[in-house]
This record gives sequence, C-alpha cells and structure tokens, in this order.
Amino acid sequence: MAKCIKVEKKRAQGVKNGLLGLGLLERDYKPESSGEFVFFPVKGKVNGFELIERKLKKINKKPNSLVEALAGILKPGEIERVVTSFDLLGELAIVEVPEGLEGKGKEIGRAVMKVHKNVRTVAAKRGPMEGEFRVRKLEVIAGKKKTETTYKESGCTFLLDPAKVYFSPRLSFERERVAGLVRGGERVLVLFAGVGPFPIVIAKKKPGAVVAAIELNPVAFEYMVKNIGRNKLEKNITPVFGDVREVVPLLFENWADRVLMPLPRGAEEFLDVALVAAKKGAVVHVYTFTRAGEEEEKAGEMAGKIRGLGRKAKLLAYRTVRPFAPHVDQISVDIEVE
Ligand SMILES: C[S@@+](CC[C@H](N)C(=O)[O-])C[C@H]1O[C@@H](n2cnc3c(N)ncnc32)[C@H](O)[C@@H]1O
Repeated sequence: MAKCIKVEKKRAQGVKNGLLGLGLLERDYKPESSGEFVFFPVKGKVNGFELIERKLKKINKKPNSLVEALAGILKPGEIERVVTSFDLLGELAIVEVPEGLEGKGKEIGRAVMKVHKNVRTVAAKRGPMEGEFRVRKLEVIAGKKKTETTYKESGCTFLLDPAKVYFSPRLSFERERVAGLVRGGERVLVLFAGVGPFPIVIAKKKPGAVVAAIELNPVAFEYMVKNIGRNKLEKNITPVFGDVREVVPLLFENWADRVLMPLPRGAEEFLDVALVAAKKGAVVHVYTFTRAGEEEEKAGEMAGKIRGLGRKAKLLAYRTVRPFAPHVDQISVDIEVE
C-alpha cells in the first residue's frame, strides 16, 4: 500500500509540478489514472489534500551498485565488508563472499543480478586455485545452476566452465600485448594453454602466425578445441593434449620463435622445457609471482635461471600483469634467448 492523494485529472499536471517542487512525490510507486482522477504517491501530508492508502504499482528501479542493491537487505556493518569487485564472464558472475557473511550468499548473489541484468548465474569462490589443473571450487548462490558460460574478449568467443578449468578475464590486456608483439610468420608455442585464450587472441590478431598450444587438463583441452572451432582458427592453431614435459621434446624441439609460459605458479620449473622449444633468438614469456616492489629483481632472477640452464639470455621487458594477493603481484617477463 502506498500513501497517495487523489487529484482531478484537469489539475493533475499542476499538482504534480507542485509535488516535485516540494520534493513530496514518492518515486518508488507509479501514479495511477482511474476515471476522472489521478492518484499520486506522496511522501507525507500535502496541504489541501486528504492522505489515502492505495495499492499502486512499484517501480522496479535498477540499483547502480552492489552497495545500493544491498541497502536494507544487509546491515550497514555487513555491507561494508562485501567485496564489491567481481569477475564477469558473460552471463556468469564469480564473487567472493567474505568470512562471516557465508550465510548471506543468496542475498549478495541476488543483489549482483539486480545490478547486472544480463547475469543469469552468480557463483561464489570456495577456496583457492588448486592442483595441477589450477581449478577453484565454485558454488552457485543465485540464479541458474549452471557454471558453463560464453565469454567474449578481443573479438574472440570462449566457451568454458570455470568450475572445471582455469580462466581469468584479468589477463585480457596481457593477451593483447603479447599478440601485438607477434610478427607475421612467427611460430608461437603456448604451454599451459587452458581453454585457449592466449593462442586464440594471438591467432585472431596475427593470422600469419603459426600457433601451437599444449594443455594437460582434458576438460580444458576439449574446450580449447571447441573454441578454436568457434573462432574459425583451425588452420592457424594446432592444439595438443598432454604434459608439456613429454610433448615438447617429441614435437617442438627447436621449433618456436616465441614461447609463452602462462602457468604461472611453478613456471620456473619448466624453463628447461621452454628452452627445448626455443630457437636461437626466440622470445620466452615467463609468468610468475613476486612481492610488490621486487619486480625488477624477479625478472633478473628469471633471466639468470635461463643462463644457468646454459643459454644466453637478454631481459627485454617485465610488467605487472595484475595484483594477485596483498603485496603480491603476477608479472610477465620477456626474455630473448640465444
Ligand atoms: C594458470 S592456468 C592458465 C591457462 C591459460 N593459459 C589461461 O591463461 O587461461 C595453467 C594451465 O596449465 C595446465 N597445466 C599444468 N601443468 C601442465 C603440464 N605439465 N603440461 C601441460 N599443461 C599443464 C593446467 O591444466 C592449466 O589449464
């Protein structure tokens, strides 16, 4: 029920202007026209009119932010603790429900769907990235119980299920950057390729490149094959299923002009494998973690490790790809090897 005043139609516009001027028009409800009268929802007493109660239609306003959507649903102290940034993968949102608010997941999930009308499923992160396949447990907290989604980036489309494979939209700029470095006709080998974002963005931007991509998680590999097809890049990319340690010496010895190592935890342990593939003058892109502020040192350390494996190494560049944890960043290091 809304508080309202009953106004003759011929006076309606004037009265509406007056209500707006006085800030008395209630904007959560729709005025209703009925016979010779208009019922205006109001915030309180209006001089010269009797205040009546009437069932009016509510206006479904889209909140502008998660905080706005949660107002009145969570307590102010709880809202303060809500993590307002989250990953959007097409119709799927992946959120973090902070400790102590575990019981409020449904409310947070519904609020995300109110702010982002295209979101059909909200899933909460349940634990860290785990295991060799780097997969995180997810739990659907609102919407459709389906975590497979279609995500678009750099004019490419990716089908993936982040409950079964690794994927991060936060690496999109890095993928563009590396694709920009690739020259026509280059042979690019992507180790740890996942569902194919690096090989696919590179091949799309540089159709002259010859790209190969290796992945060990069978589900991620299957998605990569589908994604290569969806993006019509079958002629540009060769997907290979298996462990880089076995596949590289068999198929890619001294093959690549560029080797990508987007693991990034433990990538250092695979530098010897990357060097098997890297031709003289090739560029190796190593991804790793470092304490914030120690990027240069870490980049130098990576070049040093390559020298320790018997190849000359020239550090070309390094950059912070994304903050990973408090005081810890993910960095990329570009190294030319002789
Ligand atoms: C951090 S994810 C990166 C995936 C992808 N490059 C991306 O950016 O979305 C690392 C990937 O390496 C794969 N992987 C781990 N060890 C591997 C190995 N020895 N050989 C091939 N792939 C491996 C995992 O299954 C996982 O998909």
